[in-house]
Amino acid sequence: MSVIAGHECILIVDDEPTNLKLLDRMLRGQGYTDLVLVQDPREVLAQYRARGPDLILLDINMPHLDGYQVIEQLKALEDPLLPPIVVLTAQHSRDCLLRALACGARDFVGKPFDRNELLMRVRNLLDVHLAHRLLHGQRAALERMVHARTAELHYTRLQVVQRLGRAAEYRDEETGNHILRMSHTCTLLARQIGWGDAQCDLILNASPMHDIGKIGIPDAILLKPGKFEPHEWEVMRTHAAIGAELLDGDASDLMHMARDIALTHHEKWDGSGYPQGLTGEAIPMAGRIAALADVFDALTSARPYKNAWSVEAAVELITKNSGKHFDPALVGAFLGVLPKVEEIRGRYREGGAAA
Ligand code: C2E
Ligand code: SIN
Ligand code: SIN
Ligand code: FE
Ligand code: FE
Repeated sequence: MSVIAGHECILIVDDEPTNLKLLDRMLRGQGYTDLVLVQDPREVLAQYRARGPDLILLDINMPHLDGYQVIEQLKALEDPLLPPIVVLTAQHSRDCLLRALACGARDFVGKPFDRNELLMRVRNLLDVHLAHRLLHGQRAALERMVHARTAELHYTRLQVVQRLGRAAEYRDEETGNHILRMSHTCTLLARQIGWGDAQCDLILNASPMHDIGKIGIPDAILLKPGKFEPHEWEVMRTHAAIGAELLDGDASDLMHMARDIALTHHEKWDGSGYPQGLTGEAIPMAGRIAALADVFDALTSARPYKNAWSVEAAVELITKNSGKHFDPALVGAFLGVLPKVEEIRGRYREGGAAA
């Protein structure tokens, strides 16, 4: 996924010429050269059609058309590859945030502009859009690879799914090693409960995409350094369904399992999970395996919102939650392969090079 930084087109809409100038200067200073500045919101559609931007920065309070109306107009085009829209707003109220999200905005930048915040949002959302385009355009290619049998293509396929997984996860962790540790742990667990080679191979390839739906979560929420407010939780929990939707409509065993995992990796054995509140064996086995591997790795890793736990503390939480969060048979399998899980942790350490 390498588009040279700076070649992406960014459409900026603000009725204040000084704001346009300021944003233009900040982005140009960072090497973005293809910038379209629009002062009159009535010109957005024509500019959108003419330039096909990769990202839209949009003011809310403007004469003639407000930002919400501009979003409605853009949505009405039904472009499957509509780029992310970042709302520029001085209003930090929860209502404004929810309304813009409900309309289809992806994220916010507060006024007055903070240079670092702006540049981080822009870089991340351009990456996210690129991942969307990749997923959209490459389903057919992925499908062909899935059916190919040669060792080389097999290796390439693993690379592709791991990169897709990273596109979602590298925003909230450093190296992308979480998905490597997590997918190898899934495979260990699957083998331990008696899955055959083909199924083990499937889960190795499918589990890296478990959090692909995080692509749809605004950075303002995903990267929040502290605990979530209830309305932020509501948004965060949608990542399971968003992921399932991205991976849906594909007939291969691989994509089918990837979809199951994305949808059900936050379900819990006792029915208290999300998004569907499924219970016990109603949760696909692949989702139950992914849940355990994901939680173990999330607990033992640092996140923007928490420090890393020790292996002992994580094992204790998992054991305590046997029959509550986790399938008891899987907790038993996990304890049986714990030394091998620790080997995986050593191989794909945080701070080490991503393999
Ligand atoms: P994640 O960081 O990959 O964590 C995956 C799962 O591991 C969590 O799913 C949860 O079941 C478990 N987990 C992670 N850290 C802890 C912990 O400190 N204590 C306990 N008891 N369990 C933990 P969950 O809760 O559904 O969260 C899903 C995702 O939502 C997380 O993925 C993370 O990206 C985000 N998230 C959850 N809580 C917060 C928060 O307070 N602040 C922020 N910024 N993000 C959060
Ligand atoms: C402005 O329009 O410049 C401030 C009000 C807002 O966008 O929330
Ligand atoms: C298996 O049992 O080998 C895989 C079927 C499943 O995902 O539950
Ligand atoms: Fe998740
Ligand atoms: Fe995860």
